[in-house]
Order: sequence, then C-alpha cells, then structure tokens
Amino acid sequence: MDQNQLKKLVGEKSVEFVEDHMILGLGTGTTVRYMVDALGKRVKEEGLDIVGVTTSDRTAEQARKLGIPLKSVDEVDHIDLTIDGADEISSDFQGIKGGGAALLFEKIVATNSDKVMWIVDETKLSPKLGSFPLPVEVIPYGSQKVFERFEKKGLNPKFRRDAQTNELVRTDSNNYVIDLYLHEIDEPHSLAEYLINQVGVVEQGLFLDMVNTVIVGRENGPEIIPVKR
Ligand code: 5RP
Repeated sequence: MDQNQLKKLVGEKSVEFVEDHMILGLGTGTTVRYMVDALGKRVKEEGLDIVGVTTSDRTAEQARKLGIPLKSVDEVDHIDLTIDGADEISSDFQGIKGGGAALLFEKIVATNSDKVMWIVDETKLSPKLGSFPLPVEVIPYGSQKVFERFEKKGLNPKFRRDAQTNELVRTDSNNYVIDLYLHEIDEPHSLAEYLINQVGVVEQGLFLDMVNTVIVGRENGPEIIPVKR
C-alpha cells in the first residue's frame, strides 16, 4: 500500500467512531480529506445526523459540498470528538501539526473538544519530535523581528513560501508561517511555552497532552491506539 492508500484507510476507519447527534471537529489535510469524504457518505446514505466544526476554509468547502451541516466553534456549546491528521507523533503521543498551515484553528477546535483523535499513516511516527519542521503562525507586522529572535536563539527559522509562486504563505487568518528546523526537540513543553510567549506569535504547532486516540495506517490494517491521559 502506498502512503495515500494508508491515509484513506485511516480516514475511513475513523468515521466508524462517529455516532448520531455528535458535534464533530473536522481537521485539515490530505488524510482528513478521506475522512470527510467517508463522513459525507454516511450522512447521505445513513442519514447520520451530525454537525461539523471545521478547522480551515478548505475543509469547510469540502464538507459543505458533501451536505455536512456546519457551525463555527463559537456557535456550539461543546465538541464531542475532533478527528484530525498530524505531521509527526512521538512515542509518548505528543504531536506536531500545521504542515497545512491550519494550526491555529486546529488548536482552537482541539482544545474545545471532549476527545481528540489523530489519523496518520505510519510514516508520521517517530521516537522523538523534531524531524518535521515546527510551524509557528505569526502576525505579518513585526514578523521579521520574530524571525531574527528565533535565529539568535538557534531555532533555524524559515518563512514558509508557496512551492509554486514562491509567495509567503498566508494562513486562513492572513498570517505568515515560520517553520523551525530543529531536527530533535528535547523539551517540547518548555519550547511551547517560550514560543507562545513571544509577541507576534499567534500559535505554535506543538500539540501536547491533547490526543486521546491515534489511528495508524499500517500495511496489515489500521491500528487503533488509545492514549492514557
Ligand atoms: C494541517 C495539519 C495536518 O493535519 C497535517 O499537516 C497532516 O496533513 P496530511 O494529512 O496532509 O499529511 O496539521 O495544518
């Protein structure tokens, strides 16, 4: 199976956990695309009654086309479950997210959810976080100053640019993303604390102590891992 087939496998598996009347956080990314397709199928074929809370304009557009009713995070009093992808998951189930530049809304939705599930193919697992560049969303005004501060601290920052146009990437909130090429993150909690306290930083991509279930796409089928919290 190639990586896309593994993504499809976990995307489809995850919607088996969705029950009637749930309010569901819908993540962002190529794995989530498969999940939203499978969810739309259940809504259409089984009349599944759910409300989705999306984490990006991309996911909202897809969900709308599939007839999934949507509300914003401020219009719901709780979210039962959020299903999202991840860029890297460590052996102690900490995560890096934001490869799709949706980290801010993803974190808002995840932190307002009763349960969080991540769906990944097995290439996303690593013993320690850091091999995936850590995304940091920054306000454009003063972003060069934030960048220089990161450089001085040895965090190897790089502004994210669009691969085709070479333009600086803008998030759904019109901010920039600075990726930190760290290779290994020894103390994710203290790094998260440092980053979020820098003026101009809107959010950072360490998703710590957040996930309750991980579904990993493996050659021999999806592996469901409950995470103790
Ligand atoms: C978007 C994310 C995605 O969940 C993450 O990048 C995984 O994406 P994909 O499923 O395409 O590999 O954090 O901001």
